[in-house]
Amino acid sequence: MKPRQVAPSKALLLSLLAAPHLAFAFYLPGVAPTTYQEGDLVPLYVNTIRPVAGPDGSLHSVVSYDYYYPLFQFCQPEGGPKSVSESLGSILFGDRIKTSPFELKMRKNETCKKLCEVTYPKGAAVFVNQQIASGISLNWLVDGLPAGQKIVDELTGTEFYNPGFLLGQESPTDGQIQFNNHYDIIIEYHQVAGSTNQYRVVGVIVQPESKKYTGPVDSNTCLTGYEPVVLNEAGDTKVQFTYSVYWIPSSTVWATRWDKYLHVFDPKIHWFSLVNSSIIVVFLVLTVTSVLVRALKKDIARYNRLDQFSLDDLSGTSALEDGVQEDSGWKLVHGDVFRTPSRPLLLSVLLGNGAQLFGMAGLTIVFALLGFLSPSNRGSLGTIMILLYTVLGSVGGYTSARMYKSMGGEQWKTCIVLTPLLVPGIVFATFFLLDLFLWAKQSSGAVPFTTMLVIILIWFVISVPLSFIGSWMGFRAPTIEAPVRTNQIPRQIPPVTGYLKPIPSMLLVGLLPFGAIFVELYFIMSSIWFSKIYYMFGFLFLCYVLMIMTCAAVTVLMVYFLLCAENYNWQWRSFLAAGTTAFYIFLNALLYWVSKLSLSSFAGSVLYIGYSLLISFLVFILTGTIGFFASWLFVRKIYSSIKID
Ligand SMILES: *[C@@H]1O[C@H](CO)[C@@H](O)[C@H](O)[C@H]1NC(C)=O
Repeated sequence: MKPRQVAPSKALLLSLLAAPHLAFAFYLPGVAPTTYQEGDLVPLYVNTIRPVAGPDGSLHSVVSYDYYYPLFQFCQPEGGPKSVSESLGSILFGDRIKTSPFELKMRKNETCKKLCEVTYPKGAAVFVNQQIASGISLNWLVDGLPAGQKIVDELTGTEFYNPGFLLGQESPTDGQIQFNNHYDIIIEYHQVAGSTNQYRVVGVIVQPESKKYTGPVDSNTCLTGYEPVVLNEAGDTKVQFTYSVYWIPSSTVWATRWDKYLHVFDPKIHWFSLVNSSIIVVFLVLTVTSVLVRALKKDIARYNRLDQFSLDDLSGTSALEDGVQEDSGWKLVHGDVFRTPSRPLLLSVLLGNGAQLFGMAGLTIVFALLGFLSPSNRGSLGTIMILLYTVLGSVGGYTSARMYKSMGGEQWKTCIVLTPLLVPGIVFATFFLLDLFLWAKQSSGAVPFTTMLVIILIWFVISVPLSFIGSWMGFRAPTIEAPVRTNQIPRQIPPVTGYLKPIPSMLLVGLLPFGAIFVELYFIMSSIWFSKIYYMFGFLFLCYVLMIMTCAAVTVLMVYFLLCAENYNWQWRSFLAAGTTAFYIFLNALLYWVSKLSLSSFAGSVLYIGYSLLISFLVFILTGTIGFFASWLFVRKIYSSIKID
C-alpha cells in the first residue's frame, strides 16, 4: 500500500484539531508524572469488565461488571480488594477502580508467577462462557495507563494500543470457548533524562493466554505451550492463574505516552467527510443568509416607501397601486408577532434549560479543546460537565425568568420553581429507572446509592438555589419590550400549505443540523458503546459551531416563510422545528442499533433505547433553544426596522 501523503498545511490543521496532543506537554493537576526507582512497586489496578464487539464485529451487551463480580472468581489481593478513590465524573461514566493481587516491581522481569487457583462450578462456567462468546474485555490500569493490546491499523499501517484485552476467545478451529488464565504483562518504561535510577511507565500491553497446566507451576512452566482451558459446563473446572512481567525500555517520553492510545481510525473518512460537509453547510448558510438579507432589504425598503407615501400624500392616489401590494408579506402580522404564545410557562422553562445546556456543552468542548480534559485525567470530562451544569443553573433561571416576564407571564413563582426541577427531574427519573435495570442485572454500571445521593445533594443544595438567584435577577431586570405594539384582537391565520405545515417544516428544518453533526455523532456513539477513548474535541468543536449555524439559519428561514404566509405562531414552531434534530439523532441511534449492535438481552435493549431517548431529549431542548433564540433575534430585528403608524 502506498503511504498516504498529507499536505503540510493540512497536517498542521489536523494536528491543531487534535489539540490535546499538543496540550500533553502541560503538567495538569492530578496527572503529574510518578517516578519509580528500580524495584519500586508499581500498582496495577483493575477496572470494570466491559462488553466489546464480538467476533462478528457487533456489540451483544451493554452490561458491564465489577472486576470482582462473584461469578468471574478472579483472584483477590490479601485482605480483599479496596476501592481506589475516584472523581464523580469517573464513577458516573462507569469506572469502578479496585486494587489487585498483581505485584509489579520496576525493572524486575518475572515469569510464571502464581496468582491463585480457583474452581469454577457449572453455573459460573455457563455464565463466563456466555460472556466470552458475546465479547467482553478486562480493563486494567498501571500507573494510570490502560493496559491495552497492540493493534495495527490495516488502513494506515500505524501501530496503536487499544485499551482492554479479552477475557477469552472462541477457538477459530473447533469453536470451543477458551478462558484466559495467564497474562503476559509488558510494560514500557522510560529512564528520566539525566538520572541514574528514575523510571516512568510509558506503555502497558497485556497478552492474555489460555494454558491448561498439568502440574505445579514454577518460573518456567508458562513458557511452553499447553492445551487451552475450557470451562466445563457440566462439572467443576480447576483453573490456575499465572502472570509474567516484562519491562522493556522505551524512548517514548512521559508527556507523549498517551499518543499511542489516541488513534484516529480511518482518518480519511473523518477528515474528508467532515470538511466536505462543513463546506456544504457553510455554503448553505451563507446562501440562505444572503438571499434572506436581500429579500428583507427589499421588503423593508418597500414597506417604508409605502409608509412615506401614505404620510406625505394624504390624497393617497399615487400610492394606490403600491397599497395593493401592502396586502401581503410579513408586515401584515406586525400586530400579532409578539403576541404571547400558548403555554408561555413551559416554553420559558424549556428555554432556560436550553440556555443552560448550551453553555455547558460549549464550555465543556472549549475546556476539552484546551487539553484540560485529556483522557489521562480520568473522569474529568464527566466531572466538568456536572460542575458546569450546576453553576450554569443561574443562567438557566435568568433566561427562563426574563423570557417569561417578556411574554407577560404571571405565574412567576411556578416559573422559578419549575426551571431547576422539570427538565433535570425528567433526566434524573429516567436515569434512575435505567439504573434500576442495571442494578437488577448486578452490573457495575449501576451508579452506587451514595453517588446518587451526592448528585441529589449537588442538585438541591447548589444548582436549585443558583437557579433561584438567577430567576430573581431575571424578574428584577427590565422587561424586554417588543419593538411593535400587539393588537387587541388576534388576526385570523390563513391555513398553511405544503412544506409550511407543522410536520413537513419540522422534518425539513431538523434534517440540516443533523447533517452537520452526523459524522462526529458516529464517533461519539462508538466511543460510548464500544468504550473507545474519545478525544477529537477539535472536530467536535467544529461540529458544534456548524450545528449552531445551521440550526439558526434554517429556523430563521422557516420563520421568514411562515411570517410571509401571515402565520405569526413562530415561537413554538421555531422551537419544535429546530428541536426535530433530536428526532433524527434518535432515528440514527435506532439505525446504529440495527446495524452495529445485536443486543441479546431485553435489559440491554431497554438500556440502549433509554439512554438514546435521554440524549435525544437533551438535544431536543438544546437545538430547540438555539432555533428559538435565532428566530427571536431575527423577528425583533426585522420588525424594529419597519415603520408602523
Ligand atoms: C525483561 O525481558 C525483556 C524480554 O525478554 C527484555 O527485553 C528486557 O531487557 C528485560 N528487562 C530487564 C530489566 O531485564
